[in-house]
Formats: sequence, C-alpha cells, structure tokens
Amino acid sequence: MNDYQAHWDDAYHGSDNSMLGWYQSEHSVTLNLIKEIGRFQLSIIDVGAGVSTVFDELLKGDNDVSVLDISKQALQQLKIRYGDRLKYHHGDLCSELDIGHFDIWHDRAVLHFLLEAEQRTAYVANLNAAIPPGGHAIIETFSLSGEKRCCNLDLFRYDEKILADLLGPQWELVNHVNHIHLNPFGGERPYVSTLFKRI
Ligand SMILES: C[S@@+](CC[C@H](N)C(=O)[O-])C[C@H]1O[C@@H](n2cnc3c(N)ncnc32)[C@H](O)[C@@H]1O
Repeated sequence: MNDYQAHWDDAYHGSDNSMLGWYQSEHSVTLNLIKEIGRFQLSIIDVGAGVSTVFDELLKGDNDVSVLDISKQALQQLKIRYGDRLKYHHGDLCSELDIGHFDIWHDRAVLHFLLEAEQRTAYVANLNAAIPPGGHAIIETFSLSGEKRCCNLDLFRYDEKILADLLGPQWELVNHVNHIHLNPFGGERPYVSTLFKRI
C-alpha cells in the first residue's frame, strides 16, 4: 500500500461519511450535465468515486456504472451499499489503467489533487484510453477562487480554460458551471464543473 492510498483509506475509515468535506446529498450539477448529453442507458466510469451517493441517481437511469478509487476502504463501503449493481476497479489514476471503454468519464474532486505535471499527463492518458471519440468527460474541481487545500492535501485549482488546455485539442468544451458546494460545516467551496466531448 502506498502513502497516498493509506491517506485516503484513513479518511474513510470509521468516519461518518456525511461529515466528509466533499460530501453532498444532492447532485443536480452533475446530473444536469449528464442530461445535456441527451442519451440514455450510458456506460459511466466514476473515477475517485469515494463513497458518493450520486450512484443512487445514476443507477435509476438504467446506466451501466463502474467505479474506480485508490482507496479500498471506499470501494468496500460502496460494495456494501450497492453490491453487484456497480462494477469495481481498484487503481491509481496516475498509473496506466486497463479498465475498458465507456461513454462518460466522471470525476468530482479528484484531478485537483494531482500536483505534478507527470501525474496529470498520466490522468489524461487514462482518460483518452477509456473514452473513445464521441464520448464525454464531466470533470468537477475546485475553482481558482476555491480553497488551496482539502483533506490535508494541497490542491491544483482550475477554471474551464485550464482544464481545456490540459485535455488538449481532442476534447471540445461543451459547457461549464461555476457553483458553490457548501461543506457539512457551512464552508463555501467554489467549484467549476465541466462537460467535454471527445472529438
Ligand atoms: C475528495 S474525494 C471525492 C469523492 C467523490 N468523487 C465525491 O464527490 O464524493 C477524492 C477521492 O479520490 C480518490 N483518489 C484520490 N487520488 C486518487 C488517485 N490517484 N487515483 C484514484 N483515486 C484517487 C480518493 O480515494 C477519494 O475517494
């Protein structure tokens, strides 16, 4: 187990999930971006899935939903909640993954933890391998006006242009939404949520 995995396992071990800083009980920003794609019965990979409750909504739509996380603790909790209704992948987005192909890549609050350029390059290589042309990516990160740290880790913050530059010319920015996530302690956490289409 590397230090990074241990850090995230600790974050989930024995904690009340609804008190995690990134916890949210409603997912309208994400769901509206998915609706904008205008297709149904999609295959979706949620990377850095954590213990999100977004899967309650995604599974209602008869989608084929896979999750990936570096934390076995988070995956274990998802398995208890969803059983074989989700497909599970344990992996590090900064290493080469072999997870197959999907219609949608969803990342909420993971990419902004990748501080080194090589980590972000590996992330984009995994994204490109998983989403063929015509597919979509929904990437949600702390925005430039957001906090500089989360979960005791430094962040690399984004706006839609920085994200578009990172993904490169194979990806068209379709929409972006700036919004505030209120954490369980009432703190305001500005996010940018983006929808990209692979050309
Ligand atoms: C802030 S949490 C967000 C969880 C979830 N997306 C949500 O919105 O509730 C970040 C998640 O990313 C996972 N993670 C962090 N770095 C990762 C990496 N390099 N590869 C895969 N997962 C990672 C963590 O274990 C954690 O579950």
